[in-house]
Amino acid sequence: MRVVHVASEVFPFSRSGGLGDVLGALPAVQAAQGAEVTVVSPWYADICQEVREVWRGEVQAPGAPDLGTLRIGEVKSEGVRYLFLGLIPFDRPGLYHQDDVWRFAQFGRAVWPALAALSLTPDVVHGHDWQAGLSVAWARLAGVPGVFSVHNLQYQGRWNIHDGAPWTGLPGWAFTPDTLEFHGDVSLMKAGLVFASQVTTVSPTYAQEILTHTYGEGLEGLLARISAEGRLSGIINGLDQDRWNPREDEHIRPYRDLRGKVAAGRALRAEFGLDGAPILGAVSRLAEQKGMDVLLSALPELVQDWNVVVLGSGDPRLEEGLRDWAEHGRVVFVQGMHEALAHRIYAGADAFAMPSRFEPCGLSQMIAMRYGTLPVVRETGGLVDTVSADVGFRFGPETPDALAAACREALAAFANRPDWRARVKRGMALNFSWDGPAAAYLALYAEVQAAPLVPVA
Ligand code: ADP
Ligand code: GLC
Repeated sequence: MRVVHVASEVFPFSRSGGLGDVLGALPAVQAAQGAEVTVVSPWYADICQEVREVWRGEVQAPGAPDLGTLRIGEVKSEGVRYLFLGLIPFDRPGLYHQDDVWRFAQFGRAVWPALAALSLTPDVVHGHDWQAGLSVAWARLAGVPGVFSVHNLQYQGRWNIHDGAPWTGLPGWAFTPDTLEFHGDVSLMKAGLVFASQVTTVSPTYAQEILTHTYGEGLEGLLARISAEGRLSGIINGLDQDRWNPREDEHIRPYRDLRGKVAAGRALRAEFGLDGAPILGAVSRLAEQKGMDVLLSALPELVQDWNVVVLGSGDPRLEEGLRDWAEHGRVVFVQGMHEALAHRIYAGADAFAMPSRFEPCGLSQMIAMRYGTLPVVRETGGLVDTVSADVGFRFGPETPDALAAACREALAAFANRPDWRARVKRGMALNFSWDGPAAAYLALYAEVQAAPLVPVA
């Protein structure tokens, strides 16, 4: 089985969050399971030096005479071939920018001719999120079936159809409400949803939720149709259990049980001058999705009993709100992306807050449990599928009161040491291996490969 993953981020080369983590782990597991795996991603300006240029030239994409010169870089690691497409719009610092719909339209169109230039003919193309939508469409038009995974339905890659349609290079019939058109815009997310043989989301619960008005982001009608056609399923993410392993973590003093974990807590307390109250941690994008505004509003109550340590970046208003609170002795806010500090928080905190409004899967809660840090989560998406009530603490309403109540429950458990120890032990013993999910994707590829390709429109 030759599979080509297409995504905008892949750890450790480029990453802004969980999507990059998934692409940094799943492909190698599939390769170990016997698949021939390639990952295609943009060649951002600040990608590491190890990339070796393997091809350079003009590519001819149908309907895309303007793609221009393309460079292809390659890195091979753990049995996986990583290809980086060097297109001019990506030759600047950072991953994401204002003109992303245009940039990723270029990227999506370039994938197919790039594969052709390297004589690589996949059995299936697996696109991830809207940035890969067009690559799935172009593969499909070349007769290759696609699987399209929705990691986050909120970001859809929309632009007004007048400008946006030509960027895709697709023929006129592809811009009806049944295909790429979405309320007067072109939607690259719809390119993936419509042209893929199978659509997946990153947890079974999110696969159900996106059929509703609350979580469907306006695409619930299309998704219901896709579901009725038997084309929608949820496959839970795994975790890179080598990278996130408290027993062998170079960023902390490694530990294997609650006794060893106490030292990590002491170190975090010392680092930030915290008192003896338990520590509630959070490592998160500061976006509406993550409910960090709810955490912010709950702080007056939380600081009565907890030290609160937040690492994150995003919405400037949330950053400002958290920065204001950081004057309080029990609140720490560190702005930015800090890998090592993230590890120290996962290890040193007692509980971990994820008051997400929606959460397609979520990796942080799995990391936390592996480090013996008990998650306090809102009952949504992958948090429902991964955090059981005998390890973590769950709440329903999107309110500061509900979060504070769940934290009170956590505090009561914390005070009852046998209960807490048992929860920590259960959490640390959980298996978040990629083996099962990787095999589930391979089974899905085999299914789409065997099925006849039905006309799209
Ligand atoms: P999402 O992809 O929606 O942001 P996930 O829970 O799937 O959420 O994955 C987030 C990943 O990004 C986790 O591995 C988390 O530790 C990491 N992360 C988020 N914010 C930061 C940060 N400020 N510094 C370091 N790592 C971060
Ligand atoms: C998205 C989602 C997150 C998920 C990640 C990886 O960023 O927000 O819930 O874990 O993708 O699939």
